Amino acid sequence: MTKELFKGSVLFGPVPAVLVTTIDKTGKVNVFTVGWTGVACTRPPLVTIAVRKERLSHENISATGEFVINLTTREMVKMTDFCGCRSGRKVDKIKHFGMELEPGTDVAVPSLRKSPVILECKVRSVTELGTHDLFVAEIVRNKVEKSLIDQNGTIQLGQAGLLAYCHGEYFSLSRHPIGAFGYSVAGKAVRQARHREKFHKGNH
Ligand SMILES: Cc1cc2nc3c(=O)[nH]c(=O)nc-3n(C[C@H](O)[C@H](O)[C@H](O)COP(=O)(O)O)c2cc1C
Repeated sequence: MTKELFKGSVLFGPVPAVLVTTIDKTGKVNVFTVGWTGVACTRPPLVTIAVRKERLSHENISATGEFVINLTTREMVKMTDFCGCRSGRKVDKIKHFGMELEPGTDVAVPSLRKSPVILECKVRSVTELGTHDLFVAEIVRNKVEKSLIDQNGTIQLGQAGLLAYCHGEYFSLSRHPIGAFGYSVAGKAVRQARHREKFHKGNH
């Protein structure tokens, strides 16, 4: 490959485009789109979201110390884009889409019924970085759509049709995996067994 040079910028992708729900001090729910999110630590389970100070969501998270990450799917692409283009200061985004909410379990913030995977988060720290403040938060509860859990109790997240954001465009993750963790170093017998299990379940 022959590369061209660019000045340093956040040319990085794909990233998930998640919907983050928050509440204000009165309990009013807001939702906004976050692309700058990531896993920071396995144990304790920590995630990060980078949020601009001017967002209503920044105000809500700062006030309550809580938020919920709702993973998004191809069916949620329009609301994901809209919630990233309109502020809750001007539009009630929950009402606009008639979004159904489910109460929080370990946080006061509700989640979106339409989302297949929910991460309830409590803020551990906030770091001012520049345009964005980085919230590091502990995931205190996960909720997973039952139809994504197979007969062995394994979560088949790859089957959810999750949404990815890449340099200004949305993509949905293919339901057909092209490999599985450790397959490149596993012995032949293990590889064949995993392959049979993962790829021949009639999911195609
Ligand atoms: C795909 C996408 C990703 C976004 N990622 C972020 C992000 O990581 N951090 C952020 O502060 N704003 C992000 N935004 C912008 C906010 O979602 C947007 O300004 C939103 O209207 C803020 O809503 P609020 O004022 O109701 O909190 C993103 C927008 C889109 C469309």
